[in-house]
Amino acid sequence: MINKNSPIPIYYQLAESIQKQIDSGDLQPGESLPSEREYAEKFEISRMTARQALNQLVNNGYLYRVQGKGTFVADKKIEKPLVGITSFTEDMLARGMKPSSELLHFELIPATEHIANQLQIKEHRPVYEIKRIRLADDVPMAIETNYISANLVKGLTEQIVNHSIYAYMENQLGLRIEQATQTIESSIAEPIEAQSLQIKPGVPVMRIQRIAYLHDGTPAEYVISSYRADRYKFMVQMHRK
Ligand code: GLP
Repeated sequence: MINKNSPIPIYYQLAESIQKQIDSGDLQPGESLPSEREYAEKFEISRMTARQALNQLVNNGYLYRVQGKGTFVADKKIEKPLVGITSFTEDMLARGMKPSSELLHFELIPATEHIANQLQIKEHRPVYEIKRIRLADDVPMAIETNYISANLVKGLTEQIVNHSIYAYMENQLGLRIEQATQTIESSIAEPIEAQSLQIKPGVPVMRIQRIAYLHDGTPAEYVISSYRADRYKFMVQMHRK
């Protein structure tokens, strides 16, 4: 498995071969891995090299460590296509997972200048500020804060946002999201965020900002989210011009 004459660094070869075992299912989520010492002995490499390989996979979210217990295979990341607009609820149901939300904040507020600009409404107009932890099979995946004009999306309640905002807009109000612009930036979890996401502070997250529009170009929501970088990866098909 390890070729010491190869120009490819040994730690990299080991990391790749462990990753292959994870991808093929030979190593299952939750399964414990051999220790650094065991890898070092098996492949006649240094413990430092074995540690480097495991570190790489820990940093990329494929493995996690439990102090005093060892290294384990992490749950598979959710691969989210970037083309096509889906709601969190639809996304999870399509993957056979149970979506749920924990509502942290629900308030009607006057739009600040920034929010008013994003939603193309006048400053101080009423907007819902909704902050939810989004969970898949009861595991926190993201925190999302939505700003939605109350004059456009009427009658939102805590009960509705605990279920699905998009389903309510489409099925009850006939407001269909047609387009969105989204930016994704890497960042690290702030302490409060980390607590809600059940990750350590300082762990990477992806900050996503979305403005979603109705067919006539009216902004329907402005959303700021933090997605767990250890649980998500984004995928896009590209064509060369
Ligand atoms: C995704 C999007 C959000 C959107 C949400 C709606 O998470 N990133 O911009 O507000 O879906 O989800 P739901 O309909 O489940 O409330």
